[in-house]
Amino acid sequence: MKVDVILGLQWGDEGKGKIVDVFTPRYDVIARFQGGPNAGHTIEFDGRKFILHTIPSGIFHPDTINVIGNGVIIDPFIFFKEIDCLREAGIHPEKNLLISRRAHLILPSHRLLDAAYETAKGDSKIGSTLKGIGPTYTDKYGRNGLRAGEIQDPDFKTKYNELKSIHMGMIGQCNFDFSQHLIDGLLFDEYEKLWFKAVRRMKEFTMTDSEYYLNRCLDEGQSILAEGAQGTMLDVDFGSYPFVTSSNTIAAGVCSGLGIAPHRIGTVYGVFKAYCTRVGSGPFPTELSDKTGDALRKGGHEFGSTTGRPRRCGWLDLPALKYAVMLNGVDSLVMMKADVLSGQEAISVCTKYDIGGTLTETLPFELSGRKIKPVYKEMKGWGTDLGTITSFEGLPAAVKDYISFIERESGLPVGMVSLGPDRTQTILR
Ligand code: GDP
Ligand code: IMO
Ligand code: MG
Repeated sequence: MKVDVILGLQWGDEGKGKIVDVFTPRYDVIARFQGGPNAGHTIEFDGRKFILHTIPSGIFHPDTINVIGNGVIIDPFIFFKEIDCLREAGIHPEKNLLISRRAHLILPSHRLLDAAYETAKGDSKIGSTLKGIGPTYTDKYGRNGLRAGEIQDPDFKTKYNELKSIHMGMIGQCNFDFSQHLIDGLLFDEYEKLWFKAVRRMKEFTMTDSEYYLNRCLDEGQSILAEGAQGTMLDVDFGSYPFVTSSNTIAAGVCSGLGIAPHRIGTVYGVFKAYCTRVGSGPFPTELSDKTGDALRKGGHEFGSTTGRPRRCGWLDLPALKYAVMLNGVDSLVMMKADVLSGQEAISVCTKYDIGGTLTETLPFELSGRKIKPVYKEMKGWGTDLGTITSFEGLPAAVKDYISFIERESGLPVGMVSLGPDRTQTILR
């Protein structure tokens, strides 16, 4: 058996959560491989809406095991907010959720550091979600981090205090006054108290050496789907650095984030929106700072699932999409939110970049700070509301043309099309 992968091909928020939920009945195990509560994965069904940050999107199917892999970072406070929200809705995640002992912990002081660094950067800030992502991965790679499996060690509090005191020194050096700074609405001391309460509750869940668990599942013939967070253009190596997140969001991250050997990677599904969005700072060649951009934001409810910030909107960017296809070895594309484009008389797609008069389809090393002019192909729009269409054949001709164009350009099939936020508004070819 192999591990299939669902990941984002743009700047995040492509609709990965919805598609993982739709695919879950086909799999025995769903495993998140990277990122932390910077993610916000939305799932809608039966008139209910959930936003998951740390928990894999297969959690709504009680017969499927969900794994938080070693590559994920966990804030216990946020984790239990999610758990309590699910329990209120009658879902019991303790029955089908496993946590890797090797997953690193986001400490309250990591969140302060994130805010301190962002404040120090001023106008050139990343636009971080302020969930402590950068500082936690920094400690992981700097070999200073604390892992979920250490929570029950007798010296956990001592290790916590040692790391916190290093962080406090750094925060002092940044001259960051956190006395009034709120972390998810709470002052530091209050947050820390609730964080420890959540740490004590972690024993409600099974911690496991998930690399052994997952490889055993494969040996026994069980099927696994790996769930990505963020998107390829936010990958720490290949995204628009430094305006990226701090993990490998690409398919390679599945190997290190779950302990899966490369030859065990199966089908890679790449999820993309029929247009583009980005939340936070950084280059965005096809951004529309006009009425069309506003219309996409309004029609697509493009506000961050984690922070509520308005998402920047723009046309589909094929050079970036093709780059993502290459990096991830995508086998099949999933196109989201075509319904949001309904009503646009004409739809533009960026096919090339014009950089100082030179046309290219290659993403430049420095995407930031360059004057990149997108070269557009204009396509016919469609006026029809797509939300109730249930088969590929039922799509208007203009939508089919749009899909065929993307397939020709990318060299890949669009195997699934999503036409609304609900689980049922998804059509397979
Ligand atoms: P993720 O982070 O990739 O899981 O995506 P988010 O949940 O952050 O953002 C996707 C948003 O689009 C959510 O609000 C979804 O409910 C919504 N959504 C997903 N697919 C569709 C679709 O096909 N059409 C529309 N209109 N909304 C969608
Ligand atoms: P999902 O999984 C969209 C963006 C932030 C910021 C940059 C770095 O829902 O697609 P970080 O908090 O990671 O240090 O922020 O990355 N970002 C996301 N944008 N969707 C996400 O996740 C994101 N996670 C981080 O806005 O620009
Ligand atoms: Mg999201």
